[in-house]
Amino acid sequence: MTLLVTGGAGFIGGNFVLDWLAQPGAEPVLNLDKLTYAGNLETLASVSQDARHIFVQGDIADAELLARLLAEHRPRAVLNFAAESHVDRSILGPEDFIQTNVLGTFRLLEAVRAYWGGLEPAAKEAFRFLHVSTDEVYGSLAAGDAAFTETHRYEPNSPYSASKAASDHLVRAYHHTYGLPVLTTNCSNNYGPFHFPEKLIPLMIVNALAGKPLPVYGDGMQIRDWLYVKDHCSAIRRVLEAGRLGEVYNVGGWNEKANIEIVHTLCDLLDELQPRADGQSYRGQITHVTDRPGHDRRYAIDARKLHEELGWRPAETFESGIRKTVRWYLDNPGWVSRVQSGAYRDWVQTQYGSDA
Ligand code: NAD
Ligand code: DAU
Repeated sequence: MTLLVTGGAGFIGGNFVLDWLAQPGAEPVLNLDKLTYAGNLETLASVSQDARHIFVQGDIADAELLARLLAEHRPRAVLNFAAESHVDRSILGPEDFIQTNVLGTFRLLEAVRAYWGGLEPAAKEAFRFLHVSTDEVYGSLAAGDAAFTETHRYEPNSPYSASKAASDHLVRAYHHTYGLPVLTTNCSNNYGPFHFPEKLIPLMIVNALAGKPLPVYGDGMQIRDWLYVKDHCSAIRRVLEAGRLGEVYNVGGWNEKANIEIVHTLCDLLDELQPRADGQSYRGQITHVTDRPGHDRRYAIDARKLHEELGWRPAETFESGIRKTVRWYLDNPGWVSRVQSGAYRDWVQTQYGSDA
């Protein structure tokens, strides 16, 4: 029995693969990742010699490759993490987002539908397609609005969230029309180890340590709901194990914070763990810059369904998770500098040769 994980060299997919393989008796993982700028096999260095981790560099939009991999490895589940994930990049250039998030998900669904249709009844019954999505599909909340539930209207506001919304609709349609056994998770903002330093939390840590400005968009009062990445991974494992077919599960940790509060927390932790040489606070590096176009003001996830139906709850509080995260970045400057310079691509060549 194998799991096909797409996007498993990215931030969340990489953490998922590591956590999955750390479980006793875990099934092997076939990891399909295109290795865009955001995919980094160095994240998976600790399992590079593990026979249960099979890495294939490839695109979820490549129908031929998908058909071959499914036929050869006969997975019992497909988990779709692969996506273009950065909102700011989607504003600068939306096309890649449509290509991977919409067309890629469609091709993956088509390949999986053909594979699943040919399975023996017991394997067909047990098969799952789990689609990893985001709270951004629900749009923006005003202060005082109730948190997003699974039945909240879809109101995506950026090219990124619109492309994810389209992918969610395709997944839903493949269940409704073809009976494909799908599960969808819509999660809030993740943070933790191996997070690419273009996103708020790792960018602020890395810039602070480099003595660079900490660029807060607009007034910094936009609110995000933060979840430690390993808690997202445990939620996905639980939904895969026991989620009801065709259902959507929101994932979140009830941790709404304004961006400026996050940046202050990071500065204060760094002041404690690695004080600046001049004795001043990292807060002095904060600068307010032009706001993101169409910037969503507030996200908040109501994760009661996942808790009440499947008994999931996060293991970390925001305070414990953010401290672990800062510690991880302080302990792993090599990972950060290789990601920033693109040098991990050379490392991948050395480590995996022509297989990657
Ligand atoms: P990421 O950008 O760190 O990683 C994406 C991975 O997908 C990379 O390894 C990349 O190489 C790979 N990829 C991109 N296009 C591909 C393609 N066409 N074929 C195969 N692989 C491809 O993203 P992430 O933050 O790890 O997000 C993973 C998933 O979780 C995404 O679907 C995202 O929408 C969703 N999500 C992210 C967050 C968050 O806070 N980061 C929150 C909720 C949901
Ligand atoms: O909500 C889930 C989503 O969270 C995921 O679906 C996305 O893949 C993920 O990238 C993330 O999207 P955000 O846009 O919320 O994350 P980002 O880290 O880019 O920004 C978080 C907040 O911080 C947002 O309000 C914009 C702000 N910000 C971001 C950056 C990079 C700044 O103020 N300054 C910055 O330099």
